[in-house]
Amino acid sequence: MNMSTSKIHAKAPKIHVDYATADDEWKMEVAPEIFAKGFPCQQINALTILKEAEWCYEKDKVLDIGCGIGRVTREVLLTDQIEQITAFDIIPSYSKYAKEQNSHEKITFMQLDAGHDWPDKWKGTFDKVFSNECLNMVTDQEKLVKQIFNTLKPGGEFAASYFLRVDAFQIAILTLMAQTKWQKYFSEDSDAVEKAMETAESCPWTDENTFAKFLENAGFNVKKCQKIQTWYRPNDYLEWVQFCGEAYSRFYQQIPYDRQNEFAKELLPIILDIENKKLDKLSDKERREYGIEEGSKDYQCTEMLILHCERPLQ
Ligand SMILES: C[S@@+](CC[C@H](N)C(=O)[O-])C[C@H]1O[C@@H](n2cnc3c(N)ncnc32)[C@H](O)[C@@H]1O
Repeated sequence: MNMSTSKIHAKAPKIHVDYATADDEWKMEVAPEIFAKGFPCQQINALTILKEAEWCYEKDKVLDIGCGIGRVTREVLLTDQIEQITAFDIIPSYSKYAKEQNSHEKITFMQLDAGHDWPDKWKGTFDKVFSNECLNMVTDQEKLVKQIFNTLKPGGEFAASYFLRVDAFQIAILTLMAQTKWQKYFSEDSDAVEKAMETAESCPWTDENTFAKFLENAGFNVKKCQKIQTWYRPNDYLEWVQFCGEAYSRFYQQIPYDRQNEFAKELLPIILDIENKKLDKLSDKERREYGIEEGSKDYQCTEMLILHCERPLQ
């Protein structure tokens, strides 16, 4: 599939299943303390990017796009060989929290919308650009990719993860939304289920071919732009479901607070059924690659693109 941006946007329904985009009326803005609970999964995805990129640093300047509360920046991205990291996020309270809780002399945290124009002084400045789980939230992704290209030095590299939107959590929410018991909480959005289904089924934002085109059009040499999975095993799956709902799901948040626990308990078996079926389909080799313990179940699968590319020297 090879779509232009305008087609992608034309197809995208206004109501999203979960993560809102930067120009939507609802932004993913949970309290930094709740957001912080997502670290174990963010860490796995960030490490997957870095394993792919195999970066060696020599006093490098690094840019981190959509750094959230900065824990991945400080604990996963930062190494002794890096000279300086500039890390930004659209949400002011996250940049503030990052400065307070994850400060480091080599890291500058700031607030910026990746979809807006970046500072002129950044042009040709960075050796590496990194982004974990953020690019899919920016509406004009072609512009974003061009800005990333311009901000790199010749020979500089860009590596990122990009969430695809079909996951078990979304499907479970959609399943419950269609049930009479829960329907009343979604009555404002009379055709919400239909629209959300469309999103979940079609992944309208992009795919590996579309994003590779964005990268090539900007001038990058693309080393990798591939759909992959990562697997994470929560210690307490119900707690994880509650966290995902509180942090990322607009529809979960429409359920009255005193019924959210019951809602989460009904989501849980649907999610586990989907994830365990996916798990059963993996070969032994894949299980080993994903670090899945033999015989164990109840993992969470993230479908995402992994990107790695280079700005040519000339
Ligand atoms: C799933 S979180 C990942 C955070 C961080 N990269 C990590 O690995 O922990 C996605 C982050 O992207 C940020 N974000 C979304 N849209 C953005 C935009 N237009 N500009 C900058 N940051 C954005 C969100 O505020 C959120 O903190």
